[in-house]
Amino acid sequence: MRKIIYRKRGGLDSIEVIDCETPTPKSDEILVEVHKAGINFADLMMRQGLYGAAPDFPFTPGYEVAGIVLECGEDIKGIAIGDRVVAMTNFGGYSQQVVVQENQAWVLPEEVSFASAAAMPVAYVTAFHMLSFLGNFQVGNSVLIHHAAGGVGTAASQIANLLGASVVVGTSSSGKKDFVENQGMIHVSKEGGDFVKVCKEKTGGKGVDHALDPVGGKHVMLSYKALCSGGRLYVFGASSASPKIRTSWLAAYRMWRQTPRFDPIKMMNSNKSVFGVHMGMWDDKEVLKQHMIKLAQWLKEGKIDPIIDSTFHFEDVAAAQKHIHDRKNKGKVLLDFSP
Ligand SMILES: NC(=O)c1ccc[n+]([C@@H]2O[C@H](COP(=O)([O-])OP(=O)(O)OC[C@H]3O[C@@H](n4cnc5c(N)ncnc54)[C@H](OP(=O)(O)O)[C@@H]3O)[C@@H](O)[C@H]2O)c1
Repeated sequence: MRKIIYRKRGGLDSIEVIDCETPTPKSDEILVEVHKAGINFADLMMRQGLYGAAPDFPFTPGYEVAGIVLECGEDIKGIAIGDRVVAMTNFGGYSQQVVVQENQAWVLPEEVSFASAAAMPVAYVTAFHMLSFLGNFQVGNSVLIHHAAGGVGTAASQIANLLGASVVVGTSSSGKKDFVENQGMIHVSKEGGDFVKVCKEKTGGKGVDHALDPVGGKHVMLSYKALCSGGRLYVFGASSASPKIRTSWLAAYRMWRQTPRFDPIKMMNSNKSVFGVHMGMWDDKEVLKQHMIKLAQWLKEGKIDPIIDSTFHFEDVAAAQKHIHDRKNKGKVLLDFSP
């Protein structure tokens, strides 16, 4: 079988596709023939050496796959050979075949495609975790979403609208305005748009209830300013540390240096909360499992519908990552591993 590895920290030339042995599942694992795998922005950052939770080089990235079960370990009860599944992989998903723990895989209803399924675990679980689980989202709440046209951005807007949002403000490159508006958001261009002002204007001067910030650096304080009293800010990324294909230590340092250190007393007086969110470091897998069950039900009922920007053959993984670095994606980018 073949899999993708990052040979070393660096640009797209550090990506290789290699032949390797098929892994054997342990007693509590299944072997999945991967048909589609999701690409996440974190995959790009870990290639650049900017992702603390990544394994040592060389390694195979990939957090999510959808495919068919080829083998089951002896203790597997709820999944059988031949089942169509979606799975969370803690790395290793960029591979023709991957072993997964049973409690990280879910059998797919027939009507859900491998593409929709592979687009779901990271983007939708992250958005749901922030808005619903941590955020206790209420009907009529308002939301600010950055990178609104991306994987998490489109998932968050669908979930917010499903949960009865009154206002959803989304920022992105100006060329994605129509796309963002078609997703049910009020668009603010990140080139010169003033999202704090728009959030206040659209909420009668109060500010939004939830702000999702994956940008980091000084941007975080602007998102905090866009909140109403009682509002919640979720800091869940640092895309400003990664402006180019190759690692920029200056940009990474600037992001870290400019990220605000919040004063709990000021937060108390303004009744605002700040959550740090890293799904890869979330320990209680049962919580994630419950999120997936809820989201799979919504997917089956057609209440959410992952937006697929494009699907690249896995041998073209460098082009797929370049597409995201170039900020061209509107929705999720997938890798095709179908045999
Ligand atoms: N903490 C967690 O558990 C977690 C989980 C999932 C995702 N995230 C974070 O959420 C953010 C979005 O992730 P995603 O996987 O959904 O990615 P994505 O939004 O599908 O793709 C990247 C998009 O982000 C925007 N962008 C902003 N700065 C960029 C840069 N420096 N280089 C390239 N694109 C940039 C671009 O759109 P525009 O320029 O048009 O906005 C681009 O199209 C990332 O920061 C990621 O690390 C965090």
